[in-house]
Amino acid sequence: MRLILNSPLDMHLHLRDGDMLQHVAKFSAKDFTGALIMPNLVPPITDIPSLLAYKERILDVMGCEQFTPYMSLFFKSDYKADFLERSRDYITAIKLYPSGVTTNSDGGVEQFDVKKLAPIFEAMSELNIPLCVHGETNGFVMDREKEFGAVYECLAVAFPKLTIIMEHITTRSSAELLKRYENLYATITLHHLLITLDDVAGGLLNPHLFCKPIAKRYEDRDALLELALNANKKVMFGSDSAPHPVSKKECCGCAAGIFSAPIALSALAELFEKHDKLTNLQAFVSDNARDIYKLTPIEKTVILEKKEWIVPATFGDVVPMFAKQTLKWQALSQK
Ligand code: DOR
Ligand code: ZN
Repeated sequence: MRLILNSPLDMHLHLRDGDMLQHVAKFSAKDFTGALIMPNLVPPITDIPSLLAYKERILDVMGCEQFTPYMSLFFKSDYKADFLERSRDYITAIKLYPSGVTTNSDGGVEQFDVKKLAPIFEAMSELNIPLCVHGETNGFVMDREKEFGAVYECLAVAFPKLTIIMEHITTRSSAELLKRYENLYATITLHHLLITLDDVAGGLLNPHLFCKPIAKRYEDRDALLELALNANKKVMFGSDSAPHPVSKKECCGCAAGIFSAPIALSALAELFEKHDKLTNLQAFVSDNARDIYKLTPIEKTVILEKKEWIVPATFGDVVPMFAKQTLKWQALSQK
């Protein structure tokens, strides 16, 4: 049995840089036609020369694979309208991190003063630049995303022409919020469709499932499943595949991030098939993103075959999600 996907897109991807980029890029390039590349490098990508140089480095490692890196800038509170206007043609989105909420977010927004930031959001609205947001406060870990809901509401109301992407949503409250405002959209990861906090810390601690936002309750996961499996037009796939070397995961002070790029499409097919929703996978992994971002991706046919395979224990020094486990679908190499 085969499943054909037309131009799959991963609208939230960490490719890193240097050796790690060399090592992980091929997995996304094989299974996807493009991805929104996160800018949280050290230092973050905050200017166009750095962004273009990073894009070149990504394209270099892609070799002959057809793959478009859709680039994002790291939101800074001091961006000016003329800078944004000059940047428009080079970027697909701007990613906003509240300071300190996740990996390499220290240069993010310190104080979320919507009034002060209004000129930036107005310029982005005018220029049709989507705003991607890591929506967490610095509060209690299980409540961070819910608490950030007030900021999303405020933004959605104050800037009705701004396309706001709630990145990697994890809660029922975000799923509900999304439906309330026309200009709110969301990415959903594979891992948040599959795991809950029980999988991370309910038994023996599993550092390889530790990520931000942390996986939540069963009812939260069900709300995300309802959106994704029905390919709700306001949600799209964003893996948030975030590789860290094993030494940074299996230690005290474990880094947040799940490396899912090599198994993302296979596991999504298995999940959608299990729920008898395979016909909605195309919309979730491609069509919805095209509509939301108004993209015309390179045509690339990705074939998934119903054929068991065992996920390797490691890829280099990175442990993937589903390491050593059997998956039911295999993505074939494409031309
Ligand atoms: O788990 C995560 N890892 N969440 C993020 O927001 C960032 C990412 C990373 O860059 O490692
Ligand atoms: Zn991320």
